[in-house]
Order: sequence, then structure tokens, then C-alpha cells
Amino acid sequence: MRVIIRPTYEEMSKEAALLVKDRMMKKRDFVLGLATGSTPLGLYKELIRMHKEEGLSFKNVKTFNLDEYYGLEPTHPQSYRYFMDTNLFNHIDIEKANTHVPDGKAEDVEKFCQWYEEEIKKAGGIDLQVLGIGGDGHIGFNEPGSSFNSRTRLVALDEQTIKDNSRFFEKIEDVPRFAITMGVGTILEAREIILLANGKKKARPVAQFIEGPITSLVTASALQLHPKVTVFLDEEAASELKRIDYYKFVEEAEKKINKKLF
Ligand code: F6R
Repeated sequence: MRVIIRPTYEEMSKEAALLVKDRMMKKRDFVLGLATGSTPLGLYKELIRMHKEEGLSFKNVKTFNLDEYYGLEPTHPQSYRYFMDTNLFNHIDIEKANTHVPDGKAEDVEKFCQWYEEEIKKAGGIDLQVLGIGGDGHIGFNEPGSSFNSRTRLVALDEQTIKDNSRFFEKIEDVPRFAITMGVGTILEAREIILLANGKKKARPVAQFIEGPITSLVTASALQLHPKVTVFLDEEAASELKRIDYYKFVEEAEKKINKKLF
């Protein structure tokens, strides 16, 4: 796992955007896995700037989002489809038909989840998956205890997640209790993964998933099993890591020999 630490959220987001741009430029028909939440907003802002000012094109890009609240219409202001449209898709040249967000109103959820998995396969698999991390160490909505082999499915949200996400709703009762999420197994099949985290609140789950044991109680720790993961952190999110000096040393060493040291 590469761990990249930057002093601020803005710098961390810009660094992550450079990686996304680099991978997009290297492959036609790029398949990008996306996350919602507060964390990737800086990354999306930077990708929009790159599109507007540097001609970065999303014309041939397909996207698959990690998750969606179950029961919310795509037009609901707190739905993840709405989030993606307003914070990224409406500002770049992506074909809307190429963007996929799980359908929170799917009637036959099981069938829908299978279809979603098949669509990812049909697209050729995910080239690069963007992740955030929950206060309880989740990726997607794979709450503590989710199997590392789990696939896209309907899940119940953890109390901690409901509390964390209530900041976007008028009252905590309005937060949906269920969601459709890609599984840990689905996420691990992406060819490359980046995880972003910022702020003091993320320091503990970040230290747990990078330096703690691999356990389904911290689903992000499954990333230790993936061969190509880069973690982008600001100083606050990195503050409980024990091996910061080593991560910084590796980054410096990479610059010297002009090679990525995974
Ligand atoms: C969102 C998602 C979640 C978030 C996580 C962090 O699509 O899959 O795992 O990445 O809950 O959320 P924020 O960024 O709001 O702290």
C-alpha cells in the first residue's frame, strides 16, 4: 500500500486527481469506480477544473458508483445519484448513459444487484476505484462484519453510519436504514484502488486499516490484500499512524529513482 500524506485537504485532493488523470490518459474506455460523501468533493472539484482548463475528457469513460440509499428516488437531494449529478457529472463531458449508480428504488433488489455486477463485468471491470472510509472503517456501505467475499447487495446501515450521515438530513429519523452497496469482494476486483481520508475523525479508522490486523470488523483492512492501493491522507487523518516516517521516506525514495515503490 502506498501512503501519501499532504498537509491539507486541498493538496491531498489535488494529488489524488493527478493519479486519476494519469490513469485516464493511459487507457481508452476507462472504467472508474466512484464514491460519494464529503471526502471526494475536493477530488471532483479538481477533476472538473482539469476538464475545463486542461481538456481532460470523460467522453469515453464509464462510471460505477459504490452505493445508494435504499428507498430514495434518484431525484431526492440526499440520493447518491443526485449527489453525483450535481457534484461531478453535470460539470464534465460524460455521457449520462455511461454513469451507473445503484437504483435505490429497485423493485427486485436481488435481481438488480446481479445486473449491476454483470454491467461492471460487461464494461471490462473497474480500472480504478475511488473510496472514502467511514468512522467505523467501512468501505462502500460494507459495515463491520461484512464478508470479504461479499458482492453487491442490500445491507442494513450501522448505527454509527446513520449518526455520521445524519448531518445531511433534517433529522436522524430521515436517514435511510438500508442501502445497496458493492461488496468487499466486488471492490477488491478493481485493478487499482485509491482511498482518500481527511480530518481528525478519520485518524483512528485510517490507522486501523493500514497498520492493524486484517479483519472484517474494519472492512477497509481488506485493502491490505489488494496489490495496488494508494491512500491519500491529510496530516490530521494520518495523525495516528505509527509508520509515517517510513511512508514519507518511500515517497522521497520514489522521486529519487523515478519509480513507484509498492
Ligand atoms: C460513499 C461511501 C462511504 C463513504 C464513507 C465516508 O459512497 O461509499 O463509504 O466513503 O462513509 O463518508 P464521508 O466522506 O462523508 O466521510
